[in-house]
Amino acid sequence: MSAARPSSGLAGDRAIDAAELDAMREAAFEAMERAYAPYSRFRVGCALRGRDGTVHAGCNVENAAYPSGSCAERGAVLAAVAAGTREFDLLVLATEASEPTPPCGQCRQVLVEFAPALPVVSFTRDGRVGRWTLAELLPHPFTPALLAHP
Ligand code: THU
Repeated sequence: MSAARPSSGLAGDRAIDAAELDAMREAAFEAMERAYAPYSRFRVGCALRGRDGTVHAGCNVENAAYPSGSCAERGAVLAAVAAGTREFDLLVLATEASEPTPPCGQCRQVLVEFAPALPVVSFTRDGRVGRWTLAELLPHPFTPALLAHP
């Protein structure tokens, strides 16, 4: 009989292995350090885990033409899909905000295309944690199925 894996200790987080979450948190903060956010000065990093075990990092990359910038989460999805991974089971975010922040609306829409029930865990530098599922964050999503023609 194998020993139970340690839980992260977060409420309702039994499915997420504590050591794996720790590694994902580390990857998200490393990505945050690579963020290019000279305009907002709001750096975001994330780690998106594929069901195949691959981890894809993203950071926000801003632009002098402001709307041309991209969020960390969309960067991670693009990198993962380009690498051949389209199924995800965990998104971990890292920011310098004082409160844990969820993905923005546009990123929620991009994520729901591939992972409608995705668990999202968001960390601040001082260890505060926010935890949601994408289904909670985007309760009435526009999904590929809705494009089906009669
Ligand atoms: N940002 C993200 O990278 N992810 C989010 O979910 C929220 C916002 C970025 C976009 C912009 O570069 C900066 O944070 C301020 O909005």
